Amino acid sequence: MQREQWASRTGFILAAVGSAIGLGNIWRFPYMTYENGGGAFLIPYFFAMLTAGIPFMILEFGLGQKLRSSAPRAFAKLHSKMEYLGWFQVLVAAIIACYYVAVIGWSISYLGFSFTQSWGVDANAFFFGEYLKLRGDNSPSALGSLQWHIVAPILLAWAVSFYATFTGVRTGIERLGKIMMPLLFIMVVVLTLRVLMLPGAADGVNWMFKPDFSALLNPKVWSAAYGQIFFTLSVGFAIMIAYSSYLPEKSDINNNAIMTVFINCGFSMMAGVMIFAVLGYMAAQQGVPLTEVVSSGVGLAFVTIPTAINLLPMPWLLGPMFFIALVVAGLSSHISIMEAVVSSAIDKMGWTRRKAAAVICGAGALISMAYATNGGLLLLDIVDYYINNIALLGSCLIELFLMAWVFKKLPELRSHVNSISEIAVGYWWEFCIRYLCVGLLLVIVGNNLVTAAT
Ligand code: PHE
Ligand code: NA
Repeated sequence: MQREQWASRTGFILAAVGSAIGLGNIWRFPYMTYENGGGAFLIPYFFAMLTAGIPFMILEFGLGQKLRSSAPRAFAKLHSKMEYLGWFQVLVAAIIACYYVAVIGWSISYLGFSFTQSWGVDANAFFFGEYLKLRGDNSPSALGSLQWHIVAPILLAWAVSFYATFTGVRTGIERLGKIMMPLLFIMVVVLTLRVLMLPGAADGVNWMFKPDFSALLNPKVWSAAYGQIFFTLSVGFAIMIAYSSYLPEKSDINNNAIMTVFINCGFSMMAGVMIFAVLGYMAAQQGVPLTEVVSSGVGLAFVTIPTAINLLPMPWLLGPMFFIALVVAGLSSHISIMEAVVSSAIDKMGWTRRKAAAVICGAGALISMAYATNGGLLLLDIVDYYINNIALLGSCLIELFLMAWVFKKLPELRSHVNSISEIAVGYWWEFCIRYLCVGLLLVIVGNNLVTAAT
């Protein structure tokens, strides 16, 4: 059977950008920037983007396009032993999908609340107490019991990913991307412009960009920057390989990859400005220092932002806009993770797309119910910690190491992508992957393993 194909280049880029832009851009990036020295984080971040993000994206687009296969089969075509790596990445992607969907579910609930601000005045108590039903110290009140008000929005999110993967590349994923991505951009541009006009907004933005150069000497900051780049670009999880496996034979790989990376990271900067403008405004309204209004990852979107929305002009409009952006960004990423798993099953087992989508999304929906229980947040924190600090960077390191050093596939791949791209990448591409990425990742992953063990 003929492999499915994207209808247009724009369709592919929107899908790839849809995968890249996600929850990671809207709440993770601003918070990471804050936690890792503000402006100083942006130096390792852009360094990682240029020397790891772009080369890695070219590598994955090139692999998928050249071998026309999802990750496990593409790797198997390079060397039979490499198939394991493909399945490991599919597994990591599936694990991410099951908790990522929970955060989308919360966002869907909050989209509903945002019309009436029904999270009330104390968003902190609301989120942890009423919504997640945790005790005062944020510990679960009754382990195991399902929360139906969380189950429903999670199932709704699954329904969207099921629809997209079930109907296929063109009619499902590509068509949804063409609706979702423009919607997302409009929401975030309008929100950013509006909140920048608020009093105190500039202080928030300045604070985000205020450099703390001592952070550059801290290996944790570098680890965070590389982790953020791989997470935000969805590379190293079988996703971009699956998406690019549907590219036509003549595709400008280098250009597509560079565009995807720049759009994603540009979006992150804009989201960062938006979030910190709101925080600056909030600090000014409450008359407290900025450092007191910021909370961590999950809390940022579901506690701090709702509190800020309460203080905004026209909260019933700006609130829904923010949560629509969050939901849309999350869903388009979730679709891409599921497509990575679904396409691998199709390639390996010869299943029809419909069967693969039904079985995999069904199983995923069941597993993700663990995050709709009282212990959900606790479990999510633990899984997220190991995924981010070890599995994510580890998977990227193994892929790059095998490609560069063990199976020595870089020169061949470089000449392939250059033969079909308008701009050719020079030897620097191989250099970045072989020495810079592999070397830095070895140090970072090693350091994280030691930290996790102690
Ligand atoms: N890139 C997406 C984001 O920034 C998340 C993602 C991570 C998607 C891993 C797929 C795999 O939120
Ligand atoms: Na997305």
